[in-house]
Amino acid sequence: MRTRVVMITGCSGEIGQALVADFAERPGYELLTLDLKPLPAELEGRSRHIVGDILDDALLGRIVTEYEIHTIFHLAALLSARGEFTPELAHRVNVEGTLRLLKLAAEQSEWQGRPVRFIFPSSIAAYGMPDPATKARDSRVREWDWNQPQTMYGCNKLYGELLGAYYSTNYRQLAAERPVMLDFRSLRFPGLISAYTVPSGGTSDYAPEMLHAAAQGKPYQCFVRPDTRIPFMVMPDAVKSLMQVAAVDHGSLSRLVYNVTSFSLSAAEIREIVLEAFPDADITFEPDVRRQGIVDSWPADLNDDPARRDWDWKPEYDARRAFGDYLIPNIRQRYC
Ligand code: SER
Repeated sequence: MRTRVVMITGCSGEIGQALVADFAERPGYELLTLDLKPLPAELEGRSRHIVGDILDDALLGRIVTEYEIHTIFHLAALLSARGEFTPELAHRVNVEGTLRLLKLAAEQSEWQGRPVRFIFPSSIAAYGMPDPATKARDSRVREWDWNQPQTMYGCNKLYGELLGAYYSTNYRQLAAERPVMLDFRSLRFPGLISAYTVPSGGTSDYAPEMLHAAAQGKPYQCFVRPDTRIPFMVMPDAVKSLMQVAAVDHGSLSRLVYNVTSFSLSAAEIREIVLEAFPDADITFEPDVRRQGIVDSWPADLNDDPARRDWDWKPEYDARRAFGDYLIPNIRQRYC
């Protein structure tokens, strides 16, 4: 008898760690986690963890002989800045890896005779604003606007969404019998900020880096201009949105891909908030033209009305609560 599990790939990354910790508080779930790295020590024992590669077909083959997977959170990815240094590797992990997991979910759906839920985090990087005037004018972009990403990561995420749509609606459409198809749901996240982990390889990293550096008394040179504005969300809200979209009835969903967001701040505004909490912080601006170009191509804010309407999405933390109740107290405690 195979064990029924929720599978999480990329579980040692920022979202993954927070999601595993959240699942650990909920009874009734068996977790199967997969990552190139071991689980961080504080999460050990909270899941059946496999150190391995999502591109390893033999490993995925072994997993399906042992487990019945009813939900997959496919988080493993190379982020936007890292992807620009190794674009082909980013494509392999972000696209070929996603394709393998979708195929696994499709086969599991057929074998189980019911749709496996496939939850896929996408990103503001899926957007590509053509110029600053458009970014200023069209500030709350909708899911179907400006889908012209300028990074390998953004291209990969947008295509991952399309692959998910294909596997959940048209997979093997010419076969004599329609297969049971998987149930794909994707969230386009803004920049994420956690009090407990720092991101690696992203381009929105300046916000969390600024805060974590200030709390440690380290100087920080912000790599974007003070007026740079993109949307953000704190990690508890990212986890909340993933859990919510994974749980909602299929019939309530009018889309496969939803924007979710919380607040939109400029780099200068984030610096101000950080300085209020850490008055001695040494934060200067040293814009890096190329990384600036990437952030400039991302929207200033996201319109998440469809998620609010269809499944009652609402972040717990606006900017004031995000910094005042979650980030600053927890980061202070972490480093002091
Ligand atoms: N935080 C991500 C990045 O900067 C965007 O989704 O790559």
